[in-house]
Amino acid sequence: MRKIIIDTDPGQDDALALMTAFGAKKEIHVLGITCVAGNVSLDLTSINALKICELSGAFEVPVFKGSSAPLKRKLVTAEHVHGKTGLDGTELSVEKKDFEVISAVDFMIECTEKYRDEKITICALGPLTNVAKVLTKNPRMTESIEEIVLMGGGFFEGGNITPAAEFNIYVDPEAAKIVLQSGVKITMLPLDVTHKTLVQRDFLEKLRKSGKKSAIEAAKLLDFFERYDVEKYGSQGGPLHDPNVIVFLLNPEIYHGKLVNVEIEVNSELTRGMTVVDWWKVTNREPNVYYINEVKEKEFFEIVLNKVLSLET
Ligand code: BDR
Ligand code: CA
Repeated sequence: MRKIIIDTDPGQDDALALMTAFGAKKEIHVLGITCVAGNVSLDLTSINALKICELSGAFEVPVFKGSSAPLKRKLVTAEHVHGKTGLDGTELSVEKKDFEVISAVDFMIECTEKYRDEKITICALGPLTNVAKVLTKNPRMTESIEEIVLMGGGFFEGGNITPAAEFNIYVDPEAAKIVLQSGVKITMLPLDVTHKTLVQRDFLEKLRKSGKKSAIEAAKLLDFFERYDVEKYGSQGGPLHDPNVIVFLLNPEIYHGKLVNVEIEVNSELTRGMTVVDWWKVTNREPNVYYINEVKEKEFFEIVLNKVLSLET
């Protein structure tokens, strides 16, 4: 069974990704949740991770606090999308669960040592600050990481926080650059694919009609989350970004992409955090990323629904 760590900044779509992973217990082993500042401050993203663990009945999964700010820049957050708490739309609480004492970065390093032979997969759903710290602390770490599967970037779709940049990469472009140049196998799920998984009405209805607490709360989260993008893009539903990372692990065959070179813009203010994708191979730069641009939307929603409805709560 694949061992994964989910590095995240919940966020409603992060929450759905966590629930999808928790519902896939037979297929993936979630070693821990490592939190990072992004959609909202670290204090909130880490509390939100606890809330989602409790909601999903995932009491056995440890939660770690990580970086409260990007490597070199001031934190930029996205309350305009996710609301003040990051999980607006619901009023979840934390009763039983608490944080682990060691830091997110130390936990990730511990896991790479402990599972040196089997290797771990890092699923990154937020800015790449924690992951970059792990890779720079000990470059040999790369040998113990099977793959980094991340939600971030955009090329054909442009950006969502500036015309050029996607939010996760924009917040910490230096971290993204370190990760992309690390030599670790990287799969990227950018806006080009997540904008093809727009929340559907019947998906929300099925969550609600299940009568299960976790599914009903998931629907409430998405109701709030999509209002911003629906207005912005004039679409029928908002893009369900982060669950694509988990669904890719579970069913890679529903995705399509290409091994290409991707570089990160860190110098220009205008295009800060832009993912420059050599899709047509017009340079001699070495391919470093499996860049996904297609997904079978119907199958994607069936998988998310099936996993969320598999939760015991
Ligand atoms: C990414 O940014 C955040 O707002 C979402 O959680 C997702 O990870 C999309 O650009
Ligand atoms: Ca996220």
